[in-house]
Amino acid sequence: MTLTATAVPSTDLDPFSPEVLADPLPAHETLRDLGPVVHLAAYDVYAVARYAEVHRALTDWQGLRSGAGVGLADFSRETPWRPPSLLLEADPPRHDAPRSVLAKILSPRKLRGLTPQWRADADVLVDRVLAAGAEFDAVTDLAEVFPLRVFPDAVGLGESGRENLLPYGDFAFNAFGPREGIVAALEPTMPSVIGWIGEQCRRENLSETGIGAQIWAAADRGDITPEQAPLIVRSLLTAGVDTTVTGIAAVVHAVATHPDQWQRLRADRGLLARAFEEAVRLESPVQTFFRTTTSEVEIGGAVIGPGRKVLMFLGAANRDPRRWPDADRFDLDRDPSGHVAFGMGLHQCVGQHIARMEAMAVLEALLDHVQSVELAGVPRRHLNNTLRGWESMPVRIQAA
Ligand code: HEM
Repeated sequence: MTLTATAVPSTDLDPFSPEVLADPLPAHETLRDLGPVVHLAAYDVYAVARYAEVHRALTDWQGLRSGAGVGLADFSRETPWRPPSLLLEADPPRHDAPRSVLAKILSPRKLRGLTPQWRADADVLVDRVLAAGAEFDAVTDLAEVFPLRVFPDAVGLGESGRENLLPYGDFAFNAFGPREGIVAALEPTMPSVIGWIGEQCRRENLSETGIGAQIWAAADRGDITPEQAPLIVRSLLTAGVDTTVTGIAAVVHAVATHPDQWQRLRADRGLLARAFEEAVRLESPVQTFFRTTTSEVEIGGAVIGPGRKVLMFLGAANRDPRRWPDADRFDLDRDPSGHVAFGMGLHQCVGQHIARMEAMAVLEALLDHVQSVELAGVPRRHLNNTLRGWESMPVRIQAA
């Protein structure tokens, strides 16, 4: 059956240009207002930026697959920069076993035991920051330091070389965009970083009790193959650090720019979980991912032919006024559930509980020690083709 097409508007807007990466919000509004589906002439791909169509694309894994890559590159025609992820870049049935193994290991029940140590680590960190004075950088002194302390420990990495984690994640998320520009500039620095990451995924380099060892134990049981285990560990090292740095920075930014909401949190810690969800809705650390159509697919009245790339703007969907009243406001009265910052459906973030636990630990430590928090300067963005984060965020705090 051939589906009948409605006209798809086309635009020259380049979502990976430095201007749009620095401030994507005007571009998101333009894309949402152009129509439910838009053609991006610069890359000859389609794009969805409204909540309804992004949600639809995320949940239709049969019509919109991930196995051809969730970046601009089409793996059926182009060689990926590394062997594809067994989770993010795989479709059922290949996706099933790795996903099921990781979902069990990263379930809230399995992770619960980490909370006391993470809370203690967050206390030490916030104490240290306070001791250094009333002003600090919420990115370099806090949001980067905390995940880099607790996450590699939880996975079971050795102490040396951890400085490779952020550059690796930064490169991997950049590599979902065009090969020119940021990727080309970073490429020469990557071989040693990539080599270090590969080494850490080997069984003998992981502690005997961490999350990495549990992945290898799943291979011993035959739930996955021994060839799959290191690639699954690699998924954690790729997706587990830069994302949470951005998530923690997002919630600090939200409370620093909404002092009334910070005071509400101080009065009612029952709002903590909502504060993090609302912050990631607003900031959308992961801004975009692609899918590839498997056959002729109808989205929002438009018909897209088979084998075409579709760019999903998670960040634009999370601020779509069609779905979220007063979408640009950080509002603890809002129910942010249904946001797509962690995706939706089959590929929904398998590490989201780790992200929440890290953010909760930091927020609770801040609430224990800090009376007020505000920006002390203009935050500087870190440009990445996929992640929306900061290089620096000066804040001023008053101890409780
Ligand atoms: C605030 C922090 C985080 C954000 C915003 C985030 C965002 C996302 C999103 C949007 C997806 C969906 C991808 C898609 O549909 O194609 C995803 C998948 C994934 N995330 Fe996260 N993530 C975060 C933290 C983490 C952490 C801490 C880990 C590891 C411990 C992790 C590991 C993964 C993996 C392995 C997938 C692929 C799942 C699959 O394809 O089945 N993420 N994440």
